[in-house]
Amino acid sequence: MHKIAMLGTGLIGRFYTMSLLKYRGKDEIRVVCAAEDEEARKFAQEFGIPRWTSDIEKAVNDPEVDTVIIGLPNYLHKKAVLVAAKAGKAVLCTKPLGTNAAEALEMLRAVEKAGVFHGYLEDLVYTPKTLKALQSAHKGALGKVLWARSRETHAGPHSDWFWNKKLSGGGAIVDMGCHCIEIGRSFIGKAHRPLEVTCWADTQVHPIDTEDHAVGLVRYESGAIGQFEVSWTFRGGMDLRDEISGTEGTIWLNHWLRTGFEMFSNVGQGGYVAEKAEGDTGWMYPVGDEIGSLGYVEMFLDMFNAMDSGRAPMETFYDGYIVNAIIDACYKAAETKKWEPVDIVDWRSSGVMDEEKAALKDYDTENYLIKEERMPNGNLKFILKHKVTGEISQKIQQS
Ligand SMILES: NC(=O)c1ccc[n+]([C@@H]2O[C@H](COP(=O)([O-])OP(=O)(O)OC[C@H]3O[C@@H](n4cnc5c(N)ncnc54)[C@H](O)[C@@H]3O)[C@@H](O)[C@H]2O)c1
Repeated sequence: MHKIAMLGTGLIGRFYTMSLLKYRGKDEIRVVCAAEDEEARKFAQEFGIPRWTSDIEKAVNDPEVDTVIIGLPNYLHKKAVLVAAKAGKAVLCTKPLGTNAAEALEMLRAVEKAGVFHGYLEDLVYTPKTLKALQSAHKGALGKVLWARSRETHAGPHSDWFWNKKLSGGGAIVDMGCHCIEIGRSFIGKAHRPLEVTCWADTQVHPIDTEDHAVGLVRYESGAIGQFEVSWTFRGGMDLRDEISGTEGTIWLNHWLRTGFEMFSNVGQGGYVAEKAEGDTGWMYPVGDEIGSLGYVEMFLDMFNAMDSGRAPMETFYDGYIVNAIIDACYKAAETKKWEPVDIVDWRSSGVMDEEKAALKDYDTENYLIKEERMPNGNLKFILKHKVTGEISQKIQQS
């Protein structure tokens, strides 16, 4: 059993608390921390947590606490991690790890130097659908992954600090690109170094200093491309989708809108429908199990089971650092409008490099097979490339 200090009682602190208390069931939150004592007190009372405070150091140094969970605004992650590392406590930090790669690296070094357990709380690689899809991809069902596209778009975040670049580190890219980048990286394979990025980012709607919409490409050493699409200008709820394609297969995942639960109401229900839903009348897309669908349950199972068995979790601060390094390159590319290198000062490949090229398939001794297709008239068509001359031709097998 772990005794936890929960730092932050906002949207994510609430989801984390509900996941921990409802599902793993073994651990206890002993203290919560919010900006105001009153906010912390109300939250503590709601969830039966014995102590509350507005002092981060006090919460972390609570003598009963062995694990610190950080659900604070981005600019406070580094401070909280350094306090937890100094106290020698396990630390789990929400996304993005840092507001930039330099901060993330400092945090990574601090936890490694202190020798404390560290987990990066990237829930969207832990959704049940994603875990199963990752398993299929890693078992080779897609062949070599070539393209991993991930989208998170909604009408914008729910608290002031997200919109203030000094407190958040950036707009939609740092807020949601971090999810999409790690999803892409997980499918493409973490052993593959991200080499360079290009990115379009703009402030299309909101009166803010940072981007409210961006699309980026991350090119990996394997030749694969990770594509992210993030927006704080998208209307109609939270669109969370992934598409993975490889030489032998494709996966499409839809996590939030149109997942099989669609409801129409003319009068509404007077309240919350699902995260980032834009109203409670007309056609709606409620989500049956929000905490499960967003991956929080499996994420905390992995984190605490890893801690208990002395292994690293699937997502560590190193992953958070790599994501921040990719994000930094995206901001640079959005300005220069060029491909920019991803600057990683501490690259750790697992050494499992996938060297294979897209497999060349023989059609016969003279030709490679490029493509075969059954046509509407029933004929089978083969597109071929001559092995010596390179000439492209086709052969038709009558039905
Ligand atoms: N899917 C996800 O993983 C996910 C989703 C939402 C948010 N987040 C991340 O979680 C973090 C918090 O986001 P949120 O949506 O919960 O924000 P929020 O604004 O809803 O809540 C922030 C919380 O931090 C507390 N806080 C602020 N300043 C503090 C201080 N100085 N000392 C102590 N407590 C303080 C506030 O009182 C509040 O309880 C961010 O880093 C965000 O990126 C992750």
